[in-house]
Amino acid sequence: MGSTGDMAAQAARQRLVPSATPQVGDLIRYATLAANGHNTQGWQFRETATGIDILPDLPRRTPVVDPDDHHLFVGLGCAAENLAIAMSAQGKGGEITFDPAGVVRVAYGTSSGDDTALFDAIPLRQSTRSDYDGSTVSPSDLALLQAATVPGVDLVLITDRAQVTSIGDLVIAANSAQMADPAFVAELKHWLRFSPDAAMVTGDGLYSAASGNPALPDWLGPRLFDMVFTAKSENAKYASQLATSSGIAVFAGAGPTAAQWVQVGRACQRFALQATALGLKHAFLNQPVEVPDYRADLAALAGLPGRRPDIVMRFGRAGAMPFSLRRPVDAVMA
Ligand SMILES: Cc1cc2nc3c(=O)[nH]c(=O)nc-3n(C[C@H](O)[C@H](O)[C@H](O)COP(=O)(O)O)c2cc1C
Repeated sequence: MGSTGDMAAQAARQRLVPSATPQVGDLIRYATLAANGHNTQGWQFRETATGIDILPDLPRRTPVVDPDDHHLFVGLGCAAENLAIAMSAQGKGGEITFDPAGVVRVAYGTSSGDDTALFDAIPLRQSTRSDYDGSTVSPSDLALLQAATVPGVDLVLITDRAQVTSIGDLVIAANSAQMADPAFVAELKHWLRFSPDAAMVTGDGLYSAASGNPALPDWLGPRLFDMVFTAKSENAKYASQLATSSGIAVFAGAGPTAAQWVQVGRACQRFALQATALGLKHAFLNQPVEVPDYRADLAALAGLPGRRPDIVMRFGRAGAMPFSLRRPVDAVMA
């Protein structure tokens, strides 16, 4: 991204200094740095007398890849976890609850966080969609990753090479199915930002450079995308990315409700922050969750037979990529 784009990405990630009187805007800015599907940022925030509410921003749904709003609510959970960790770092940590009306409530409390490492990782975390260096992760670091979940969400870490390859085969098969679906490709393309200018104007979407692709002018990007974005090229990329990853994390929540998906989001955000704190990178590979035909095979491979897996991530070591952008806080207030 050009220097102006870098500055915009950096402004969103400016370190929040713990304070007895934190600005609500800063807390919400930290919440927006969470992972979220296609970087649609399908959330809105409002301050209440008791805390900060997070509501789904329904026009930002992605109905093709996410028809039941699973990813939308996982994203709200990711944001809620960031928000709770940020509040806690200011001595105002409280509970996260889910109102069946579809609202995630993060209450102000009095606990001060013992999660300094996770708090420090919030502005540094990124989905790093590159090849990793193929190194292994130590048992003690794996134990810390394993502990980075929340009640009600099972986390299975897979480092056995044969199992990683088998899950990679599912990623590739499911990716081929998605790429054969014109509606999936059209929806994805709608959220791609080929040029730094387009990424900066919207402050959302999947910016090419953050995904390891060349930044392109807006007149060229969509045309080149149609020519070079093929199942064959994408699948070769995924095979290489998996072969160089240290392992895979599979998350399965307690069931198929919005409240349970929020819990999954909290768990995968904690995992991503813990990985970042350990100097590890991560990226989501959710194709075998998104295409329903592959869920049962994925569950069986992860040792979770009969369950619906919610999230697949790979992890390992690599250099940082350009950061994705976020919309400013005033654009995400309800
Ligand atoms: C529920 C969910 C599903 C996701 N699925 C994928 C995926 O299949 N492939 C991928 O590359 N990124 C996936 N992502 C990552 C988002 O694209 C990413 O979080 C977003 O672009 C913001 O970038 P950042 O994580 O670097 O902040 C997913 C994120 C969430 C929360």
